[in-house]
Amino acid sequence: MNVQVKEYLTPVQAVQTGAVYEIPVIDLAPFRAGTSGGMESCAAQLRTALEKVGFYLIVNHGVPQATIDRTYEAVRGFFALPEDVKLPLLKNQHNIGYTPMRSLYNRPTSDLNAKRQVTAAAESFFMKADLAPDHPDVLAGKRFRAPNQWPPEPSAPGFRDAMVGYARALEALGKSLLPLYATALDLPVDWFDQAFVDPMYTLRISRYPRQATLGEREQGLPPHTDTSFMTLLPYNRVQGLQVRRTDGRWVDVPAVPGSFVVNSGNMLRRWSNNRCMSTPHQVVNLSPEERYAMPFFLDVNRDWVMDCLPSCKSDDNPFQYEPMTYAEYMAWYTTDYTAPKPLTRLRRIEL
Ligand SMILES: [Fe+2]
Repeated sequence: MNVQVKEYLTPVQAVQTGAVYEIPVIDLAPFRAGTSGGMESCAAQLRTALEKVGFYLIVNHGVPQATIDRTYEAVRGFFALPEDVKLPLLKNQHNIGYTPMRSLYNRPTSDLNAKRQVTAAAESFFMKADLAPDHPDVLAGKRFRAPNQWPPEPSAPGFRDAMVGYARALEALGKSLLPLYATALDLPVDWFDQAFVDPMYTLRISRYPRQATLGEREQGLPPHTDTSFMTLLPYNRVQGLQVRRTDGRWVDVPAVPGSFVVNSGNMLRRWSNNRCMSTPHQVVNLSPEERYAMPFFLDVNRDWVMDCLPSCKSDDNPFQYEPMTYAEYMAWYTTDYTAPKPLTRLRRIEL
């Protein structure tokens, strides 16, 4: 094990016994059943999670376990494919495709990461909404709106179906939570509906080798924050996700079978004028086997202008950022992300 990882882990081990820092577990059953007070109760828990932690877990979310299990199997199968099947799918300017081991560009979205220069030792594949070649946005050449890159069906039978099915299930899950987000942030319950009519999303699947097999200055995923509005990650029997507390100590995310881990990213933090947290996290696979993960990143409609949420500003607390669309935000992130301090005032990007 290398020195950097030990440094991260020492305080985590100290914290685990005390359970000082709880990541909330929100039971969605009352909300989904429409039980009296269910919405308000879940929204209140969500408000605390967004403002104080940046992470939470959900249970009774409605996604069938069979869908999740099937997708894990498909993910495992994809990464077992030979290089000559995967390499033609290299990630393109739309952030769609395959990134071989150690090739994931690791942007300095965390102060820790910027200082440490640790390499991400993971193999990944990214997909977005499965647009047809004749979709109007594809024909118009809009960035981030392009067909996915799939391996030939005979090489990976069922892979595309599993990925698309899972992504659609997660899109529905994420959208189902929006009334809770609106309520938690003191907005009308349908406030986010129009912003997510045709939302952007990214499904990233990854293979993380065992930490013991990695070199110095390598780990599965170095400390970072997400770009997303919301990230959804299903329970993983191979643990590895760690979250940085506000006091700087790292904690393991609780292992709750059947749950999803949810975190807010920089987009929501920015849109909410820093009311919502975007908390640094990392992956260190200390288990004796490889880890496969499939986080789903939900964002707004491509061209929705994210001006300050009206409940997150006042005369004393004006909006700190310029309004931006998803396309502008991601173009900036992928080409111009050099800020040592994330989320400082942004200049507008002309596309
Ligand atoms: Fe992340």
